[in-house]
Amino acid sequence: MAGPKNMGMYGRKDMKEKLKPKKPLQTFKRVFEYLGRYKLQLVVVLFFVVVSTGANIAGTYFLKPLINNHIVPFIGHKDPDLSKFISMLVLMASIYLLGVVSTYIFHRMMLKISTGTLLKIRTDLFKHIQSLPIKYFDTNSHGDIMSRFTNDIDAVREMLGEVLVQLLSSLINIVGVFTVMIILSPVLTLLVVGMLAVMIFTVKKLGAKSSSYFMKQQRSIGIVNGYIEEMTEGQKVVKVFNHENKVKGKFNELVEDLYKAAKGANTFASMLRPIMFNLSYVLYSLTAMAGATLIVSGGMDIGTLASFLQYTRNFSNPITALSQMFNAVLYALAGAERIFDALDEKPEVDDGYVTLVHALVDKDGTVTESAERTGIWAWKHPHKDGKLTYTILKGDITFSNVVFGYDENVSVLKSINLYAKPGQKIAFVGSTGAGKTTVTNLINRFYDIPDGKIRYDGININKISKKDLRRSLAMVLQDTHLFSGTVMENIRYGKLDATDEEVISAAKLANADSFIRHLPQGYDTELTADGANLSQGQRQLLSIARAAVADPPVLILDEATSSIDTRTESLIEKGMDRLMEGRTVFVIAHRLSTVRNSDAILVLEQGEIIERGDHDELLALRGRYFQLYTGMFELA
Ligand SMILES: Nc1ncnc2c1ncn2[C@@H]1O[C@H](COP(=O)(O)OP(=O)(O)O)[C@@H](O)[C@H]1O
Ligand SMILES: [Mg+2]
Repeated sequence: MAGPKNMGMYGRKDMKEKLKPKKPLQTFKRVFEYLGRYKLQLVVVLFFVVVSTGANIAGTYFLKPLINNHIVPFIGHKDPDLSKFISMLVLMASIYLLGVVSTYIFHRMMLKISTGTLLKIRTDLFKHIQSLPIKYFDTNSHGDIMSRFTNDIDAVREMLGEVLVQLLSSLINIVGVFTVMIILSPVLTLLVVGMLAVMIFTVKKLGAKSSSYFMKQQRSIGIVNGYIEEMTEGQKVVKVFNHENKVKGKFNELVEDLYKAAKGANTFASMLRPIMFNLSYVLYSLTAMAGATLIVSGGMDIGTLASFLQYTRNFSNPITALSQMFNAVLYALAGAERIFDALDEKPEVDDGYVTLVHALVDKDGTVTESAERTGIWAWKHPHKDGKLTYTILKGDITFSNVVFGYDENVSVLKSINLYAKPGQKIAFVGSTGAGKTTVTNLINRFYDIPDGKIRYDGININKISKKDLRRSLAMVLQDTHLFSGTVMENIRYGKLDATDEEVISAAKLANADSFIRHLPQGYDTELTADGANLSQGQRQLLSIARAAVADPPVLILDEATSSIDTRTESLIEKGMDRLMEGRTVFVIAHRLSTVRNSDAILVLEQGEIIERGDHDELLALRGRYFQLYTGMFELA
């Protein structure tokens, strides 16, 4: 859907959107909820993380007895008995090995969990975005939507795949090591904790400044991507108006913003590492000095100090890591927040309960539901009292006092009244921006109306399930969109179970058949996305064929022939007439030939129907239609 885009001169309005206050805690909780279905596996991961960390702590503890019992007593001995020493070393090695194996296992498991969770997030996000109303796509750039699937998901992947287990193992390590340290030497522990307080204080100070930069960086990437996407899409227009330099200039501004945010965010990250590194060395040497003093004064043995010093490193390392992980988590949370924002967008609700079913009509006119395709359709209408009524689908449409605005405050349609009897052809004319496309957008409920009623075969369309409503209408949109795939597949998009023969006869009906046969591979010609390898007119012919294959009772043609040259038009006119036969057709056209033989012509100006009647009546009126007709200027 490519409606009117809210473009600024060289970019979108939403680029200037302010950073909103964020809720990291809440987001974190939600990410965890996503991990919920892996509860059991997470418990196993937790177990192995504990084993792995525990093995490390235990292995280090062995230094004490090793030194005190198996090295110190033998100092100066000529022929020491090393058998116990060796068996102790073997035991120590086995414990470390156990740690390595556990680490491998929990990493493997966590990888599985995170990949699975991401798959779920990705699927949920895509599904949800598919369910969003047109309005969402009117107000969000494609690039912005895309970046949720790229950067944001990537940040979350890093957090789930790597950072989270690291965080967990660091925390366990810190608690475990701290406990053992207290047992070994409360005095030295006190010293270490004091130094640690200084370190944490530093991290906090730096962290507070940088967190907003991380959010900005993430948002900035989205904006830059959106801009690239938009300018790539609009490359022709940029070139036509020689705006390459302005586009580059704007891009420079945007990447400058990104640069600033990234610099702010990464200065912290890069500053942190050396600071932490140096502080941990200071911590180490101070502890060693204090320990040496204690040994000299007889308050401690060598084994204990050796062991303790090793723990000091084991203690400060995870704390250094903790602060780095803090970055990654912030980054990921900013991403997750944007993903959840999209997931929280209200989907298009379909509370319609009137559905479309195959029907049979008896001789006496009673309608019954049929399980098989009968060629007759009926609206199945369940009533409050439990009764079911069936109304044959005819394509009768009425608007009564319909009021609508895309923005609540700006009214686009003001009290529209119209009716189209089954099989009638209703034409809308009026200057551009009058609201013609908007009227058709309301019939298939792309947007809901705040006031007034639209009835389809006498049923309020609010009661009709959107799926079935849209199934009963085919639309040739003002902006054609073709998907990558073959010509055949693109036409079949109108009715997925259409046979090749049905597709071809639809193409013939739309008079698209002859040009298709001239394509290199005929119906099997691959189209690039949006049919860039076809002419505008050919694209329109394909979208008309797509509507034809759907074979609906109601047809909406929004400037469907606007890009077709006069010669081709006269060619397809017959096809169009055949296509319109027996259907209710709303046609928006700027060719008077298409409009002239309509049953009713509605002249729309500024959201109001100012004239109605058939061609001759309107000409006799000598009003707006007369002006448009005789002035011969573009009606669209
Ligand atoms: N998606 C949209 N969001 C906001 N305003 C819109 C949107 N589409 C159309 N409008 C506005 O509604 C009015 C009618 O537009 P439209 O129905 O497309 O006119 P047209 O008669 O040329 O088909 C215009 O003023 C247009 O700016
Ligand atoms: Mg239009």
